[in-house]
Amino acid sequence: MAQETHGAGRDTGVPQGPLTTEAGAPVADNQNSETAGIGGPVLVQDQLLLEKLAHFNRERIPERVVHARGAGAYGTFTVTADVTPYTRAAFLSGIGKETETFLRFSTVAGNLGSADAVRDPRGWALKFYTEEGNYDLVGNNTPVFFIKDAIKFPDFIHTQKRDPCTGSQEADNVWDFWGLSPESTHQVTWLFGDRGIPASYRHMNGYGSHTYQWNNAAGEVFWVKYHFKTDQGIRNLTQAEANLLAGADPDSHQRDLREAIERGEFPTWTVQVQIMPAADAATYRFNPFDLTKVWPHADYPPIEIGRLELNRNPQNVFAEVEQSIFSPAHFVPGIGPSPDKMLQGRLFAYGDAHRYRVGINADHLPVNRPHAAEARTYSRDGSLYDGRHGGARNYEPNSFGGPAQTDRPLWQAYDGFAGGTGNHPAPVHAEDDDFVQAGNLYRLMSADEQERLVENLAGFIAKVSRDDIAERAIGNFRRADEDLGKRLEAAVQALRPLRA
Ligand code: HEM
Repeated sequence: MAQETHGAGRDTGVPQGPLTTEAGAPVADNQNSETAGIGGPVLVQDQLLLEKLAHFNRERIPERVVHARGAGAYGTFTVTADVTPYTRAAFLSGIGKETETFLRFSTVAGNLGSADAVRDPRGWALKFYTEEGNYDLVGNNTPVFFIKDAIKFPDFIHTQKRDPCTGSQEADNVWDFWGLSPESTHQVTWLFGDRGIPASYRHMNGYGSHTYQWNNAAGEVFWVKYHFKTDQGIRNLTQAEANLLAGADPDSHQRDLREAIERGEFPTWTVQVQIMPAADAATYRFNPFDLTKVWPHADYPPIEIGRLELNRNPQNVFAEVEQSIFSPAHFVPGIGPSPDKMLQGRLFAYGDAHRYRVGINADHLPVNRPHAAEARTYSRDGSLYDGRHGGARNYEPNSFGGPAQTDRPLWQAYDGFAGGTGNHPAPVHAEDDDFVQAGNLYRLMSADEQERLVENLAGFIAKVSRDDIAERAIGNFRRADEDLGKRLEAAVQALRPLRA
């Protein structure tokens, strides 16, 4: 009897009846192609051969331009606190309420086939299939990010990915960009600290990272930040451990997630939010919409609101993970964007990526379509349209009882802006600079972790070929913390002398 080795929980349903072509005709021989005589050339009339080769050539769609490498699982979100004073979102409307979810974890820079155990932020793309439509929270395992304006994102990612000439990631490019973008210092300090290489997807936190708007039934506005705290405990890999694991088992994180769920060890996260009344935003000591900053917990304590459990593996990785789409622009009533310039750019970028990567009807695929609501639109046709609208009218307004607008926006209007149009940098609040929170993070680390941070940073900076680039990069850490700067300079000097 065949033994189930991998993929316990696999749907083993086998189609009944003989093998067929794509058009359903029975296949006589799937081992030998048709030739002109024994040993002769292959015939064009062997349509099965041509169909198989042609289909095989088209098996891949473009991989995600970032976050190409990932793994996903379905789960359940359960509300554990009354948040109706803050948001009217129906899926958050009562303690005990459950919503189906799909979560895709990822790394950022690596290609589809790259290793999991690398130093890189982890993507945290969470879809809530709510009764008011799908709500996507597309975050990371880090509460902050490298830059604060979407206009810098393509340049930033170019430095993380393969150099156009060498075809490899280049330390020169990475540190040149970070050195010239001092706002990255906080996130880089985070990334080269202990949490920069999680031991698995189960042993790390998730964050919405951006500030989002919640609004309640009375129309009052709150600014919120989401935190998903792992109940498995934080576990990380050292650089040396990760180097070994990435070689020995490139799929380590994907395998760990899948097998834990197969064993019935469902990973869970405690969901918290920090909530800021709208009136606080203008005078808060940090710009609350600056993605390179956290809101210190002493200012806005995280409040527990729910529990997330992952409990079901996808059956088909291509259909459900590769073709899954998540957009920061997928909101539901009671939740909306903030004026964070990064988030505003992302509201465009994801839908555009989906249309290119998966196609204009990507929202119709089983993993992407609403599960607890119905999509009622007047959009029609396009590549691989499934005819779901039948003969219904395809315009609005109409006199045939078709779906019409609600007149109630998902989010509330907000103000606080002054001046004319222009390429304005994000406003600077009383305690904002690019280094204060990076320095605070360094000073919070244990002596051991500080040691590892210096070692990790120095190992990479030492690979930079130009002294001025290396020195500028070190200078940012010196501005965050004098001691960090000194130790880093000494560590880099030891690996690769810089000019005096
Ligand atoms: C302006 C800045 C950014 C731009 C333009 C951008 C753009 C993109 C694009 C085009 C994709 C690929 C989408 C796809 O093909 O389906 C992507 C994926 C992703 N991004 Fe961003 N991104 C930005 C910043 C961020 C930030 C700040 C975070 C987290 C806080 C983030 C988290 C993710 C995640 C988790 C994915 C993977 C989604 C999935 O699993 O399908 N990105 N991003």
